[in-house]
Amino acid sequence: MPEKPLKICLVSSELTPLAKTGGLADVSAALSAFLDNKGHDIRVLIPFYSAIDTKSLEIAPDPSLQNLSIRIGNHHLNYSIDTTTLPNKALKIYLLRCPELYDRPSIYTDGSDEHLRFILLSRVAIEMCQHMGFAPDIFHCHDWHTALTPLYLKTLYAWDSLFENTRSVLTIHNIGYQGIFDARILHDMGMQDSPENLYQEDLALGRVNFLKTGVLYSDLLTTVSPTYANEILGSTYGMGLQDLLRQRQDSLVGILNGMDTDEWNPRKDALIPYPYDARDISGKKENKQALMQELELDSNDDIPLLGIVSRLTSQKGIDLIQQVVPKLIQQRRFALAVLGSGEPRYEKFFGELQGRYRNHVCFYRGFSNKLAHMIEAGSDMFLMPSQFEPCGLNQMYSLRYGTVPIVRRTGGLADSVQLFEPSSGKGTGIVFDDYSASALEWALNAALDLYQDKKSWRKLVRNGMAMDYSWKHQGQIYIDLFRQILPTGK
Ligand code: ADP
Ligand code: GLC
Repeated sequence: MPEKPLKICLVSSELTPLAKTGGLADVSAALSAFLDNKGHDIRVLIPFYSAIDTKSLEIAPDPSLQNLSIRIGNHHLNYSIDTTTLPNKALKIYLLRCPELYDRPSIYTDGSDEHLRFILLSRVAIEMCQHMGFAPDIFHCHDWHTALTPLYLKTLYAWDSLFENTRSVLTIHNIGYQGIFDARILHDMGMQDSPENLYQEDLALGRVNFLKTGVLYSDLLTTVSPTYANEILGSTYGMGLQDLLRQRQDSLVGILNGMDTDEWNPRKDALIPYPYDARDISGKKENKQALMQELELDSNDDIPLLGIVSRLTSQKGIDLIQQVVPKLIQQRRFALAVLGSGEPRYEKFFGELQGRYRNHVCFYRGFSNKLAHMIEAGSDMFLMPSQFEPCGLNQMYSLRYGTVPIVRRTGGLADSVQLFEPSSGKGTGIVFDDYSASALEWALNAALDLYQDKKSWRKLVRNGMAMDYSWKHQGQIYIDLFRQILPTGK
């Protein structure tokens, strides 16, 4: 007998292409679309940020979800829910409209009401289901922004029998961001009369931690790669949550992210000038030419082009790049295309590097999906020397685009890239272990040397392009796990 479709409410602060700062957006969108395609009833809720580009979207108010209100602490908030459909997908998205909280220039802010913005989202996910009479099997929450939903199901909304068979899942995409606030927001959290529900040691220190609360209350915890699931149990990567995670180890599973193979398909990619695939890879060279011209880099196929697309934060190993690249670029011939924005000290570094090596380094400061695709298609190698990397998506995009990833063996990078051995012809990238300048220097030299060995390089590129990191397998793991935590008989 075929299994019954699941009813899922997925709530996230980001969703590609509507609202994106990083991989969370890609995963929320692609996993939802996969579940929808599989016939599950999935309702996805994100905030209707004013930063969402609505030009190419058809947005309609959901008549049954207009002019609603909610009381959060002393705040009376009015909201409505609109719907839209993702470009090229069938999936319907619910947009939580509350201009008072979401009309800001950016998705995240450092405003004093940041906690409110995501308490609202976490509670409205539940109230939206109530208004729709939708009893989800699973609430799927992502990162700290929606990590309070599991707490609310077990406290503020525990009275509602609509949710008696509902289970909650929290996926940790990045433990580096926990949503830590002053305990004065207890009232806004709705926990002023029952602070015993929260982590007492934090309260004693005068703070509350949204992610930690989610770790305490969700029925299942997942993170975005098996290696990261292991790493966060220790003090180096656990960022203070390791003890609690060890207590909940039986409920913690690492599932490697998949990638959206429609959006990231070099044969069908409308954002790159020359489509190609593993059968005919000739377009890759032309993309390289086009990219180097566009970025005003000296274009010559003999010069390997190294790409970086990244949030510029310490997580991404930019410190190592700072220590190694300025020296290496004087010793070896290569060009560098960098797309990213973030911490001013890193932006300054890449800006100065570009100033010094104008024909060999291009730094595009900002966010550009088109340029991200062009860099994946046009580069020979892609650099991700991350200090930690829960999963990482660009190394997977790189593999599919025949761009050799150079990565540090951590988190999802360790699970998705294998060191190439010229003698056996096996492996998909260059992988180094230590978080040190000498290890990165070794990796870059190894990649540049290998690039000169055309036969090995071709093999390495082809090995990568043959990998399948689609959602087909990974999405099924989520479905199987969701079923395992449901009350028996579902
Ligand atoms: P993280 O979520 O930690 O930033 P991931 O590798 O999982 O890292 O995902 C990053 C995603 O964001 C990728 O889709 C990448 O292409 C995209 N991205 C990062 N920076 C930029 C940028 N400046 N412009 C366009 N896309 C970017
Ligand atoms: C996070 C992580 C990244 C991961 C992404 C999607 O932002 O930093 O490694 O790929 O989430 O899960």
